[in-house]
Amino acid sequence: MTSPATGKKKPRVYLTRKLPDAVETRMRELFDAELNIDDTPRTREQLASAMAEVDVLVPTVTDRIDADLIEKAGPQLKLIAGFSNGTDHIDVDAAAKRGITVTNTPNVLTEDTADMTMALIFAVMRRLVEGSQVLMDKPGQWEGWSPTWMLGRRIGGKRIGIIGMGRIGTAVARRAKAFGLSVHYHNRGPINPATEAELEATHWDSLDQMLARVDIVSVNCPSTPATFHLLSARRLALMQPSSIIVNTARGDVIDEAALIQLLRDGKIAGAGLDVFQNEPAINPKLLKLAKEGKAVLFPHMGSATLEGRIDMGDKVIINIRAYFDGHRPPNRVLPGRD
Ligand code: DGY
Repeated sequence: MTSPATGKKKPRVYLTRKLPDAVETRMRELFDAELNIDDTPRTREQLASAMAEVDVLVPTVTDRIDADLIEKAGPQLKLIAGFSNGTDHIDVDAAAKRGITVTNTPNVLTEDTADMTMALIFAVMRRLVEGSQVLMDKPGQWEGWSPTWMLGRRIGGKRIGIIGMGRIGTAVARRAKAFGLSVHYHNRGPINPATEAELEATHWDSLDQMLARVDIVSVNCPSTPATFHLLSARRLALMQPSSIIVNTARGDVIDEAALIQLLRDGKIAGAGLDVFQNEPAINPKLLKLAKEGKAVLFPHMGSATLEGRIDMGDKVIINIRAYFDGHRPPNRVLPGRD
């Protein structure tokens, strides 16, 4: 397909999932775009045959674009323009070896994901889901207010320990400070001194020491080989019995089986999870804990706002256009980062 405006052949772009209408409309104007109107996740075979034919693949976090698939891609595949911030589902090194550029959509889901982190903190500490269920499950049976019923824990005055102080971690810290929490963080290194001062944040070199001293642990680091089960059974056991953990990053940063055991044994007070180790499968033991009020579970909704998803789509479009206009795409992901 040729563009009437430029006379140039439009790149063939394959979308693995349905994207917001505004994004798809623009994609169809600019590219020879193959959409996924009914949003059925693509099989591995479908991905492989698309990668043998198209110029650009637009995968989401539900597609595993591993070395094997990349190896089989046709020579025409030039760009994997990910519709996601995280790139743990794409083998960036394997793509680089084949001369395929990979891009992502950073920045635009920072605030939404930080909002969701706070939502989980509130949901766990103030028992929001449990409270709502009382009315939903037994309509008309609520006996009214009681001084000692449905008591949660106060948010203000507690200590939050943020693991991963990148864009999202810093956005969580800003919100946490506004709610009266004192900010602690563990990161590869201290953040810049001006931001640290603004947030009155304390950097902990030792994750173990931080875990033992905070009331809320927030996981905000990417999933990499180095962060796989960073929160191991040993580390989780360092947390205080009254403390909670929330995760809006990736499920595999936490040893989920160990977390389940600690929650069952009452060794930590609660968990708020938006991401899971074997998504979309959820460990039934976690569901049981959620029913018992020990965990709040959301289905990977951190970036799920209409605005955010349109912004992500815009970034994908900009990356594709930049590439085919002969420029370096603004959100290129470099190989060998971790
Ligand atoms: C991402 O883009 O990495 C998010 O996890 C999707 O919500």
